[in-house]
Amino acid sequence: MESLSSPSSPHTKQGQPAEGGKADEVSPCYGVRARPFSPKLTEEDKTLDLTLRPKTWESYIGQEKVKKNIQIIIEAAKKRGEPIEHLLFYGGSGLGKTTISHIIAKELGTKIRVIAGPVIEKVGDLAAILTNLNEGDVLFVDECHRMNHLIEEFLYPALEDFKLNLILGKGPMARTMELKLPRFTLIGATTRLALLSAPLRNRFGATFQLNFYKKEDIEKIIQRSSNLLRIEIEPEAIKVIAQCSRFTPRVANRLLKRVRDFAQVEGKGVITKNITEKTLGFLEIDKLGLESGDRKILETIIKKFEGGPVGLQTLSAATSEEEDTILDIYEPYLMQLGFIERTPRGRTVTKVGYQHLKIPYKKSQYLI
Ligand code: ADE
Repeated sequence: MESLSSPSSPHTKQGQPAEGGKADEVSPCYGVRARPFSPKLTEEDKTLDLTLRPKTWESYIGQEKVKKNIQIIIEAAKKRGEPIEHLLFYGGSGLGKTTISHIIAKELGTKIRVIAGPVIEKVGDLAAILTNLNEGDVLFVDECHRMNHLIEEFLYPALEDFKLNLILGKGPMARTMELKLPRFTLIGATTRLALLSAPLRNRFGATFQLNFYKKEDIEKIIQRSSNLLRIEIEPEAIKVIAQCSRFTPRVANRLLKRVRDFAQVEGKGVITKNITEKTLGFLEIDKLGLESGDRKILETIIKKFEGGPVGLQTLSAATSEEEDTILDIYEPYLMQLGFIERTPRGRTVTKVGYQHLKIPYKKSQYLI
């Protein structure tokens, strides 16, 4: 059996981790694993999400303002006896866009149909989806910024007037046909608000940003998930997992599951602080939740580009990471920690970023 200890385990070292933006005493470790804990949804998460996903507002922890706003929208619409307006959620992966949408449908007492934007390839696909909805149903379109623009054009009248204008046949024989649709609610979700076309964006009645969670909320989520998974967890272990969770429930739950495995195989079935730190060390996740991929981004900017600024394309080529992965996965958290900054000329590593990697800080010559 594999040993829990890792040669470069930053988690075997004790100490109070820094709050966002401050450097701490973690020594860098050089990972071999590719993003095991990126917040992007995996097949494994789908089962995990189904088990742990809160199904009511009462069990949903965090995002208080968004929750309150939506509760009011729902209550007002119910009083008027109307479906709720189309809603748009934006924010990083794993922050609750899908979960909240499921709760909305449950609160409305309607069904939810979940689909990814790029999957709707033909107008016929859109027609099939829309005509199969019932009055008041929720259509959840994930990654709606990646929807085909032609499909978008057909969607506009469906959103505004609940009509679909289909073109039958080709050339001079072509005819249009108007299909009446049930009054449904579109919930669009995107990680990239800026990539959404203005006409689509304007058709949502309300837009909500989902932010990183507060540490206390992540701790509550971990406690709740441990209860659901029927595993005992020490309060200190909760704190350690929360600190490494990238302020993201999906990552917290995934880490919890891995630590549970280790606790059940190598420990006594209780998640202790010690088992947690050993597991995280084994996974090469440092005290602030950075993985090898995050460290590679920071190190590349420092070592190959003298701390930056470096443009996205160049950084992508130098790290062999896709531009989208840098934008959606690495950058938001590294910026949240204050380790990198975006300037008009590209990305730079900040002093605290250098300190985290224990590399002596050299102010970029371009910033002097
Ligand atoms: N599991 C994942 N996200 C959650 C949340 N916001 N509240 C409670 N449990 C969760």
